[in-house]
Amino acid sequence: MGDTSIENLLREERTFPPPPGFAAKANAQPDLYAKADADRVGYWMEQALTRVTWVTEPTVALDDSNPPFFKWFTDGELNITANCLDRHLAAGGDKVAYHWIGEPGDKRTLTYRDLADEVARFANGLTSIGIGKGDRVAIYMGMVPELAIAMLACARIGAAHSVIFGGFSADAIIDRVEDASAKLLITCDGAWRRGATVPLKDNCDAAMESSPTIEHCIVVRRTAQDVSMTEGRDIWWHDLVAGQSTECPAAVMNAEDLLYILYTSGTTAKPKGIVHTIGGYLTGAVTSHSLVFDIKPETDVYWCAADIGWVTGHTYIVYGPLANHTTSVMYEGTPDFPEKDRLWSIVEEYGVTVFYTAPTAIRAFMKWGTEYPERHDLSSLRLLGTVGEPINPEAWMWYHENIGGERCPIVDTWWQTETGGIMISPLPGVTTTKPGSATRPLPGLTAEIVDTDGNVLPEGSGGFLTIPEPWPSMLRSLYGDDQRYIDTYWARYPGRYFAGDGAKLDEDGYFWVLGRVDDVMNVSGHRISTMEVESALVSHPAVAEAAVVGAQDELTGQAIAAFVTLRTGYDESKELHDELRNHVGAKIGAIAKPKSIVFTPDLPKTRSGKIMRRLLRDISDHRALGDVTTLANAEIVQAIAAHAADYDED
Ligand code: WTA
Repeated sequence: MGDTSIENLLREERTFPPPPGFAAKANAQPDLYAKADADRVGYWMEQALTRVTWVTEPTVALDDSNPPFFKWFTDGELNITANCLDRHLAAGGDKVAYHWIGEPGDKRTLTYRDLADEVARFANGLTSIGIGKGDRVAIYMGMVPELAIAMLACARIGAAHSVIFGGFSADAIIDRVEDASAKLLITCDGAWRRGATVPLKDNCDAAMESSPTIEHCIVVRRTAQDVSMTEGRDIWWHDLVAGQSTECPAAVMNAEDLLYILYTSGTTAKPKGIVHTIGGYLTGAVTSHSLVFDIKPETDVYWCAADIGWVTGHTYIVYGPLANHTTSVMYEGTPDFPEKDRLWSIVEEYGVTVFYTAPTAIRAFMKWGTEYPERHDLSSLRLLGTVGEPINPEAWMWYHENIGGERCPIVDTWWQTETGGIMISPLPGVTTTKPGSATRPLPGLTAEIVDTDGNVLPEGSGGFLTIPEPWPSMLRSLYGDDQRYIDTYWARYPGRYFAGDGAKLDEDGYFWVLGRVDDVMNVSGHRISTMEVESALVSHPAVAEAAVVGAQDELTGQAIAAFVTLRTGYDESKELHDELRNHVGAKIGAIAKPKSIVFTPDLPKTRSGKIMRRLLRDISDHRALGDVTTLANAEIVQAIAAHAADYDED
């Protein structure tokens, strides 16, 4: 996103004040910012004491005695599932927690009582096979209610979950299971995707051959496809829960005990295990979910259309909504199956009031055309949200007009796996929005733009996005690697959390997040490291060297562009091109398949041997090539550019 004229036009002329009717009833009120500013840590203590139910209330809010290892509510004790389930049962057990819709059209409704019972039965099942406090449990499933049940059951007994997105490959499971030394793997026989099934259990079988720490694999029956069950190791979910009691005491946990690990891509090939603990994470989740989505538990039907395999699903499908006693929609499949109006038909059928999705999905809806939303009555919607990547103003306007009927505020929410919850976002009913800007940090949170030397920049500047003060739902470390935690987030600007994003701050103090400034790509809102794809490519016998960059893409934000040199004895061909794409798919997952692979006799390198990614980016974006005088092999650049479109995928 540059300073295109449309962006300027929208920024100058189109601002959207909060609709008065909305503002009058909003959960968030304008004085919240000043209140939080006056006593930031006290504000968080108040949120923790009023929004969270504790076994032992904390007396300490922030412990900053050992930065950057910040702790929150350290003497508090609680169980997160008591907050998500038990405390709602007496007066609201019959309320629907999830309206679940399977891709083939099957449906399930789980009330809070149903969910509590299922969680207890499965938690007792976990205990019966020796899982307990402090153990790590890997979960690799499709979007079925059992995924949320499995996470909550782990939390019930004090085990930590590590959810692995169901689109990842067997190799990706191995890495994550090994890093966390997980004892248990929970999966499904398969998952539905566009009318076909994805073989989840087969992938687990392949992974378990190289995962010695896994003692058992629990399998949910979902697609009825054939799977092999290894005697003594593999257990059907329905067998494990059969006869289990619906009573399971909630383990009393310290606020700083491990809740979950979630792996995300960093700038090296090895994914980082982001560590979240219980008390601060829950405080951040329950507060932001209530304020940003203006949740009214009695009347709202809320739908976060993400996958639970990503942090958005953890915080805004599972923990935040349940802690706020929300009725949610959960959908298993893709938005275009069986037709491109699937999401809108669900909105109409369930009367969805709050809808949260990613810009890449909105751009796909735009491309498909307005006929699909027009088939349905979307008048129940009152608030829309986006997350995962910068939203271009055109997509924002389309969403506003065609989904929101020009009446729904839009919350563009900036945050990360590391931040645990939303950091920069409008407060609906309070904030005047500008298409393309996530606006301001939420009350109690801070953000600043700095230059390369770490100087804080004033309004009207662009630079690196940092967070100068600790916040409750922040990551605590990288699992098993405190040093990498320091190096990645705190070393570049001492005393500040470095987010890895570039951003502009406008004259009104609004943040415009531009995207990653490191070697992490953002493809359809998914983080993928260039190094991860490069190392997958060079693990193929035909590949000598590979360089990967994120190219601009109208639909997916960035697309993966790979440049490959072949070993002697291998020749380029369409077949090899396809084989390499599939190889990356098998190594990481389909989301990491390069959109284009250019074969080249050499890669452009500086005289010191560094690959010039900037040039490769220019080539991928069809930009005029910049200065090549520092190159050792300048002529190669022209050759690559001439070659670039040979095997482009659509
Ligand atoms: C990007 C997803 C612009 C950003 C919750 C960040 C965004 C990365 C926005 C985190 C937004 C997320 N505007 N960019 N509203 N939201 N991003 O960890 O580059 O999967 O660093 O967390 O997504 O991705 P992650």
